[in-house]
Amino acid sequence: MSAEPLGLRPRVPSEDLARGARSSTPATVAADDYTQFCEGIRALTRIDLLQYKRGQMERRIRSFAQRRGVTDLTAYLAQLRKDRAEVDEFLDRVTINVSQLWRNPEQWTVLERQVLPELIASATAGRVRAWSAGCSYGAEAYTLAALCRQLDPRTRATIVGTDIDRRMVDRARLGRFSDEDARSASKRVLERWFTRDGDEWQASRELQALCQFEVGDLLRVQPRRDAYDLVLCRNTVIYFTEDVRDALHERLVTSLRPGGYLVIGSTERVSRPRELGLVATHPFTYRKS
Ligand SMILES: C[S@@+](CC[C@H](N)C(=O)[O-])C[C@H]1O[C@@H](n2cnc3c(N)ncnc32)[C@H](O)[C@@H]1O
Repeated sequence: MSAEPLGLRPRVPSEDLARGARSSTPATVAADDYTQFCEGIRALTRIDLLQYKRGQMERRIRSFAQRRGVTDLTAYLAQLRKDRAEVDEFLDRVTINVSQLWRNPEQWTVLERQVLPELIASATAGRVRAWSAGCSYGAEAYTLAALCRQLDPRTRATIVGTDIDRRMVDRARLGRFSDEDARSASKRVLERWFTRDGDEWQASRELQALCQFEVGDLLRVQPRRDAYDLVLCRNTVIYFTEDVRDALHERLVTSLRPGGYLVIGSTERVSRPRELGLVATHPFTYRKS
C-alpha cells in the first residue's frame, strides 16, 4: 500500500490490533479443520480469517468449498495452495462486497446537513481529508465526493478508499455503477455527477479527481494520528469479532483529528464511545472531542 499520502502507514502485525481479541484462535480452541484452514489461508495471503465472526465466516467458506466440489477444508486448502486464481475467487466470495451509491440515505442527509458543512468550514489547509474504510467498489467514496462538491463547488477533498479485496479496489478506480447500485440515488444527483455509459453510470472526472483507492487490510494497517477529518467505516466491522471491532474503532479514532467525525453503519455501534473521546451526535455519527 502506498502509505504516505493516505495517512496510512504500512502494515503492522495483525496481532497488534487483535491483541486479546483472538478468543477463537488456536490458543483457546482445539485446532479443528476450520482453524487449520484459516491458518493456512493466513500463511498464503496474510489475511486472518480467525478475526472474523466464526459462525457466518465458516458457513460461507464451507458452502463455497462445496460449490467447488470439495467438502473437506483440508483438501480445499491444498487446492488453494496450488492455484492462485482460485485463491482470488475464494477471497472474492468470503468478503461481502455489497454496497451502493447513497446507501442508507438518512445517513447521507445527516452528513450533508450537519457533518460536511462543519468539516468544510474547518478543513485543515482548506482540504477535507476522508477515509472510506472497507470501501468495496467505491460507491461510498463517490457519494461523499459528490456531496462535498454539491455543498460547495470549490471544496477541495481527498477521499481515500481502502479495501482488502483487490478486485473491488480495481473496480472502484473505474467509478462505474449499475442501476442497481444507483437505486437509492435521485435522478437529479445521478445526472449531475455521473454520465450514462451503456447500461452503467460513470462517475465524472470531477469526482474521480477527489477519490483514490488502495488495497489495505484494516486489521493490519496503522493509520497516522490526526490524518483525517472524516472516517466512514460502515457495514464492514459487522463481520469481525467484537474485540477486533472495538480495537479497530479505537485505531480509526486515533486517525481522526479532534473535531473530526466517525460514521458507522446504521445497525452498528461503538462500545464505550466516551472512553475513545467520542460524542455521539446521531446513533451512527460520532464527533471526536
Ligand atoms: C459490505 S461492504 C461495505 C462497503 C461500504 N462501506 C458500504 O457500506 O456500502 C464490506 C467491505 O469490507 C471489506 N473488508 C472485509 N474485511 C476487510 C479488512 N480486513 N480490511 C479491509 N476491508 C475489508 C470487504 O472486502 C467489503 O468490500
